[in-house]
Order: sequence, then C-alpha cells, then structure tokens
Amino acid sequence: MTVGYAPGKVILFGEHAVVYGQPAIAVPVTQVQARATVETGPASRGITIVAADLEQNYSLEQAPPDDALRAIVVSTLEHIGVGTKQDLTITVSSTIPIARGLGSGAAVSTAVVRALSKHFESLVPPQAISNLVYETEKIHHGTPSGIDNTVIAFEKPVYFVKGQKIEIFSVKRPFLLAIADTGIASPTRIAVSDVRRAWEREREKYEEVFDEIGTITEMGRQAIERGEIETMGQLMNENHRLLQLIGVSSPELEGLVEAARQGGAMGAKLSGAGRGGNIIALVTPETRSRVDVMLRLAGAKDVIVTEVG
Ligand code: MEV
Repeated sequence: MTVGYAPGKVILFGEHAVVYGQPAIAVPVTQVQARATVETGPASRGITIVAADLEQNYSLEQAPPDDALRAIVVSTLEHIGVGTKQDLTITVSSTIPIARGLGSGAAVSTAVVRALSKHFESLVPPQAISNLVYETEKIHHGTPSGIDNTVIAFEKPVYFVKGQKIEIFSVKRPFLLAIADTGIASPTRIAVSDVRRAWEREREKYEEVFDEIGTITEMGRQAIERGEIETMGQLMNENHRLLQLIGVSSPELEGLVEAARQGGAMGAKLSGAGRGGNIIALVTPETRSRVDVMLRLAGAKDVIVTEVG
C-alpha cells in the first residue's frame, strides 16, 4: 500500500482580489491533513474509490464525469502514462473541515496524486501536482485563482499572482495564527460569483478596493520577510475592512473577528471566500489561550493554532 498526504491552507492576505489579478499570500496548515492510500486489487474489478469519511464506495466507471475524485484519478493516471485500465482501491480521508476555506478539496486531490505517483514509482513534481489539482478545483469552485492548489502542492508560504510564476518566500520570525471556524459552510463558488456580479455593476469601486487589497498584500509580504509582526496585524485588520466593503463578511465572521481582537490578537480577518468559513487571528504565546477562549465564547466551532515559519 502507498500513502500520500497533503496539508490544509489559509489565505493570509488577498482573497477575492487575487481572482482579479492582484497578489495573495497563503500558507500551509499542517495540523490538519488529507490522506490517500492506493492498494492493488481486487482483481478484475477496475478502480474502486473509497471516501472513508463519507462512507462512500464506488467504481471509477460508475462515477459521473464531474466527480472530483474520479477526475483527479483519471488525470493523474494519464499524466503518469499508465492509463485507467488498472485494478486499484484508492481510499481517501481527511481531518480538514470541508468548505471552510482550508482547501480541503485541493488537499484531498493532492494526496491522491501523491499516493498514485508513489504506487507507480513516478515522480510528479509540485508544479505538475498543482496543475493537475487545478483542473479538479474548477469542478469544486468554478473559476478559482489557483492559489489553493499552489500552496498545498508546494507546502510553503506562497506569494501568488494568477498566471505568474509562483514565488515562495521566507518568514523572518515565525508567528502564530489562531484559525477559528464559524461552523458555517463557505461555498467558494457562490461567494466568488456574487463578487463578480457586484464588480460588473460597480467596476470602479470594486477595482479600487482590489487595488488597495493588492497594496496591503505587498506590504504584508514585506512585513513577514522583515519579521515585523505588529505591522502584519495592522495589515490584517485593514484587509478585513476591505473585505467587508465587498460584501463577503457576515455577522458570524464579525463576531469572531471582534472576539479575537478583544482577546488581545494583534490583528484578525476573515480568511478565504467568506460568508462562513474561518477567521484568522495573529496571536502570541502570551495571548493564544485568551484568544482561544474568547473565540469559543463567541461561538467558534473549532480553533486551531498553527505556527507559520
Ligand atoms: C478561496 O479560498 C479564495 C478566493 O480568493 C477564491 C480563489 O482565489 O479562487 C475567494
């Protein structure tokens, strides 16, 4: 049996604006992960996909063409050059909450590519993994920027501009992020298409906000590279204010952002597509437990603290 893993991710700066050509910064979250295994057999049964968490078990042949697992298995086998006439059992599971902006879909797909490439002893480099996973991201999300598959396939902090070569950058001083879950699904496809409709109606206003988010993201990168953590917190607050302006916050997200700031976080913002999903808060070893308590009191369904750096 071969096994592949992939981490979750969060966006630090630049969500939504990234769809319009602005930069965004995302980091892997290794506390949660997707796992895929590949085994040979049963004989003459073709490829069986087992989605362990969903208690689903189906054959590749039966799966509809828009099934994301089917899509990643077929494209990976074609990429490796072995074709789909195989007897294999591919099992996926994940501790990454689904539809919370943590990249669960991209992580499961990445884990599948890694497990299959090990099984067939074929080296698939990170950029090729990212490209394969991007195709399945379109099934989940419509017109994604590609940031999720990039950060998850490379497992490094990335500075990402759609259509450009990705830049991996260094973190001068490691920092702590609390990631708090509203418990509400955040369907990326809907949030992204709502923003697109609003942008079509009021192009000038929206482009101005996207430009401002782009500037914040640039400044955020500099702050991370220089180890200026306080500045980073201020920039997170400013990015959140701009996300409010484009209509992707919600009362639940606002409640968590407020609670994190009251608990002593240096900055807090929604992360990912918004409406539901997560907020991220910049904490220190001194403030992390107080922020955690405040977030839970304010209704967070889960809080993960992760170190970036
Ligand atoms: C979702 O994780 C991030 C968005 O910017 C969409 C995307 O980049 O595809 C909202």
